[in-house]
Amino acid sequence: MKVLHVSAECYPAAKAGGLGDVAGALPKFLSAAGVPTGVIIPKYRLKWLDEHQFHTVYKGAVRLHNYYVPFTIQRESGNALGFPFFVADIPGKFDRAGIYSDPGGYNYSDDVERYLSFQQAVLQWLLNSPGRPQLLHCHDHHTGLIPFMVRHCQEYRGLSWLPTVFTLHNGAYHGAFGWDNMYLLPAFDAEARGLLDWSGNINPLATAVKCAWRITTVSPSYLKELQQGSSGGMEYLLQHEQHKCLGILNGIDTQVWNPASDSYLAAPLGEDIAAFKRANKEVLAQHFRLDPRRPLVSFVGRLVGEKGADLIPDLIHRVMHSEGELAFALLGAGNPGLEGVFSQLNQQYPGRFRAALEYNEGLAHLAYAGSDFLFMPSRTEPCGLNQMYAMTYGTIPVVRSAGGLKDTVPDIGEPNGVGRGIRFNQFSLDDGQLALYRAVQLYHNQPIFEEVRRRIMQTNFSWEKSAGAYIDIYKEMGITTN
Ligand code: ADP
Ligand code: GLC
Repeated sequence: MKVLHVSAECYPAAKAGGLGDVAGALPKFLSAAGVPTGVIIPKYRLKWLDEHQFHTVYKGAVRLHNYYVPFTIQRESGNALGFPFFVADIPGKFDRAGIYSDPGGYNYSDDVERYLSFQQAVLQWLLNSPGRPQLLHCHDHHTGLIPFMVRHCQEYRGLSWLPTVFTLHNGAYHGAFGWDNMYLLPAFDAEARGLLDWSGNINPLATAVKCAWRITTVSPSYLKELQQGSSGGMEYLLQHEQHKCLGILNGIDTQVWNPASDSYLAAPLGEDIAAFKRANKEVLAQHFRLDPRRPLVSFVGRLVGEKGADLIPDLIHRVMHSEGELAFALLGAGNPGLEGVFSQLNQQYPGRFRAALEYNEGLAHLAYAGSDFLFMPSRTEPCGLNQMYAMTYGTIPVVRSAGGLKDTVPDIGEPNGVGRGIRFNQFSLDDGQLALYRAVQLYHNQPIFEEVRRRIMQTNFSWEKSAGAYIDIYKEMGITTN
């Protein structure tokens, strides 16, 4: 193992969103390209983790102020993920039924202790294990203090030579906490205090940006947006650190997301694209009790402000009364208030609108295969994987021009036949409605509709290219390929 990824999620063991997809896929492609890579996440009490065999490779305890937290590092025994997969089993901190929140949707209130114990457990294990990796690749604020700790905490100084790469998947979450919690941190050099601080708080995301050797964002456009005003006050920091920042577009795991072999689908892709779409649309429409003869638009995602899910209820009222035609399926869970609004909408437009307010992996796959269009009105979208899954499965994306959506979905109005979907700029009902209107028009222009569908299905979104971009960075830090 030359590189170890440290993450809060890893598909299929633990997934709340795209971070899980990335951590479960990128290591496979890095390993195949000659950089043996492993992953470590916390051990949650989740089905996949319960059902797989693990063996202990290290036992230890980390100190949080005046008490010790015992932990074990375990390795999955069957190589189920295709790369070395480790978990930090930290009883009392992570042996819970959710990743970030309990099944009722309430966020855990002891995240500071949770992530401090996880990050330290990883470092203590590495410090004491002979076959340690040559580079640490950390993801999001949950692991953002690692680049600081290896350089400025006496306890982990033995790892100060370890290069660190930090990937910023979501600048909306900083993991910040007050200086009154400083006593929970391992002892650090007094002169390094400023590296922890951002706007008067200890801010793991800002600390990672300051301390990691290299910073990547999950699309080139998102890096620009973060530097221009989408990073909750960290714009200047990201401008200042520009020399070590790079935007690398995520890929998709074409082993998991393959329309010809995806077992979640009602029918696999064969020679006939139209037949594939029809068969899956039939089952999807039936599931959502929608009329399959209508153009079918879906939304799949977390019901939160970032994803623009709050635009959808009013938009539904509008389009149901004007474009009179389309049917809309929504799959998502999140904000309880929004969930309430969608369950009410379920009563209002039978056969035309239906929301499934749940997290359902299989249904998401079916939605990408059985829809005509995928709607993503995101306020911000660091990369977005859904639009790439949808395109691979022949569903045309209708997206707001933000971050990775901008980088992956050129508008069909662009010259030279490069278009892959429909884009709109303003986060507004008018722009959203116009975009859906264009979708319905496209649906009725069958030759163009089918041509765009063919084109997006032929586009290669696989990780191969982007894995190469990460390897280039690793090489700068002395990692050689096998
Ligand atoms: P984010 O990580 O911000 O949520 P991404 O587009 O990167 O957004 O990834 C979202 C991932 O989570 C995709 O794999 C998508 O299919 C999945 N997903 C989101 N919501 C649901 C849901 N309600 N049911 C099933 N899968 C979902
Ligand atoms: C984050 C972002 C999403 C991105 C994913 C994987 O959750 O919100 O846009 O695709 O990380 O990088």
